[in-house]
Amino acid sequence: MLQFLHQNQIINEARLPADLTVLDYLRESQSLCGTKEGCASGDCGACTVVIGELVQDAEGNETIRYRSANSCITFVGALHGKQLITVDELTQKTNPPSDTVTGLHPSQRVIVEHHASQCGFCTPGFVMSLFAAMKTAKDVPVSREYINEQLGGNLCRCTGYRPIIDAAEKLLNCGDIVDQFDHNAGDTIQALRGIADNSVETGSGFFRPVSLDQLYLLKQQHPDAAVLGGGTDLALRVTQQLDSLESVIMLDGVAALSFVTQTSDEIRIGAGTSLTGFRDALVHYCPELDPLLARFAGTQVRNQATVGGNFANASPVGDLPPVFIALNASLVLASARGERTVKVHEFFVSYKETLLQPDEIIREFMIPLAAFDVSLLPSGDNGIRIVNRFYKVSKRIDDDISAVCAAFHLQLSGNTVVAASTGFGGMAAIPKRAQALEATLAGRVLDEQCLLDAVVALTRDFQPIDDVRATAEYRSKVSANLLHRLAAEIYTPDVATTVESHGH
Ligand SMILES: Cc1cc2nc3c(=O)[nH]c(=O)nc-3n(C[C@H](O)[C@H](O)[C@H](O)COP(=O)(O)OP(=O)(O)OC[C@H]3O[C@@H](n4cnc5c(N)ncnc54)[C@H](O)[C@@H]3O)c2cc1C
Ligand code: FES
Ligand code: FES
Repeated sequence: MLQFLHQNQIINEARLPADLTVLDYLRESQSLCGTKEGCASGDCGACTVVIGELVQDAEGNETIRYRSANSCITFVGALHGKQLITVDELTQKTNPPSDTVTGLHPSQRVIVEHHASQCGFCTPGFVMSLFAAMKTAKDVPVSREYINEQLGGNLCRCTGYRPIIDAAEKLLNCGDIVDQFDHNAGDTIQALRGIADNSVETGSGFFRPVSLDQLYLLKQQHPDAAVLGGGTDLALRVTQQLDSLESVIMLDGVAALSFVTQTSDEIRIGAGTSLTGFRDALVHYCPELDPLLARFAGTQVRNQATVGGNFANASPVGDLPPVFIALNASLVLASARGERTVKVHEFFVSYKETLLQPDEIIREFMIPLAAFDVSLLPSGDNGIRIVNRFYKVSKRIDDDISAVCAAFHLQLSGNTVVAASTGFGGMAAIPKRAQALEATLAGRVLDEQCLLDAVVALTRDFQPIDDVRATAEYRSKVSANLLHRLAAEIYTPDVATTVESHGH
């Protein structure tokens, strides 16, 4: 039985189709039409809802964490044990402090006051993103950059973004606003506690195991069932290709898949960790990665998407594979038969094909700490400097898939590259190392001649793909230019700051 909290009621659903989206559930079964459908592919944010989940705060107390999600690409099964909040529920009918005239929630009222809506189609989505941002903003004052990022997954085609951002700035800089959800927090926590974090099997093909053993067994018994991480890729098969998924095994209930921990020599990342959780953890080890992660989709997608899903979907333009390849990461494939560890750069076999067998799942990833910390290099420190650089080139800054993604991990002694490892996305049918390039860079200073040689080496490594995102010629040119950018940033550190602050 699926159970979740909605409008202060525990909802019990026994036989919903495994691939029913939250958006269709709301609009078609519940006649709650405040949540809009724009693109049905996670790109516009019109369908944004907020999902509340019981978590422990830093002091170990239970609290509710609110995160936005695109309901068009979230299956209803993902709501099990959680609270669903939609725009229909925001208006404050009871409980002060409400706007006594209109009952509007503060995240709605600022939109009205700043004339931040014209046709209004995008407005429920913006309101829900503002609501989520209000619930998660850690620091006041909140910068416009922060707001841009929070709203990066919402599109408006008629108002213009300035008044919307002004509205957000007003809302998020007001200090603590107490709303009806804060008033009800005790009851909500109680209700969520009452929904057991149990395994679920709906009888309509939806499985939610809660342990690795259950998961392996289910995958063995149902090798054709679709494994569901965040669904930000899988759900498009339903909403864009109009496929049906007969059975779905959701990873969300398996706590052992969702973690980021450090051992003496590695960072271990559970495959079910969300992109948001991964970003929060990795910024401490590798701040250089943060600008790339900020440009991975929009906030709603990052909240749902998992690290494992970004590898299992084997997209040639996924953003994490080039990074993990350059950082010399490994991954663990596991099933009821046992487990095996492989290097990420060996995991991708050919277009959309990986080493993953039908009964296997990706369980976790390991990134060597030496990728960030020179003292952990096998050769010891020896005056070596580590440079990690990650570049994403796409048509738009926010919420866009890469045309080219390039990741560089270099060890430098003075100005000389001692060792280089690289990962590229968008340059071949699979995410790949550039081995000829790595060999060319090793032992050299990145001067003009070295860069000329490096560009030639890149042509040996890649014959780029030609598709709607970019031509092969563009990709070749861009990847060559990124080598020049890398050299400029290494030898003139101010260049990096200038380029980042312009968001490219
Ligand atoms: C609007 C939008 C923007 C996007 N922008 C980006 C972007 O900027 N960069 C980028 O790289 N990607 C982007 N994506 C793609 C997608 O969000 C990512 O690939 C994401 O990491 C997929 O993770 P998921 O958990 O949602 O995968 P799911 O959709 O749940 O699964 C994807 C595939 O992997 C399988 N799978 C998932 N987890 C596992 C596992 N642990 N073991 C085995 N198989 C598994 C599933 O069965 C499925 O075949 C975007 C998607 C959308 C909709
Ligand atoms: S309808 Fe566009 S993101 Fe969901
Ligand atoms: S107000 Fe019309 S799309 Fe935003």
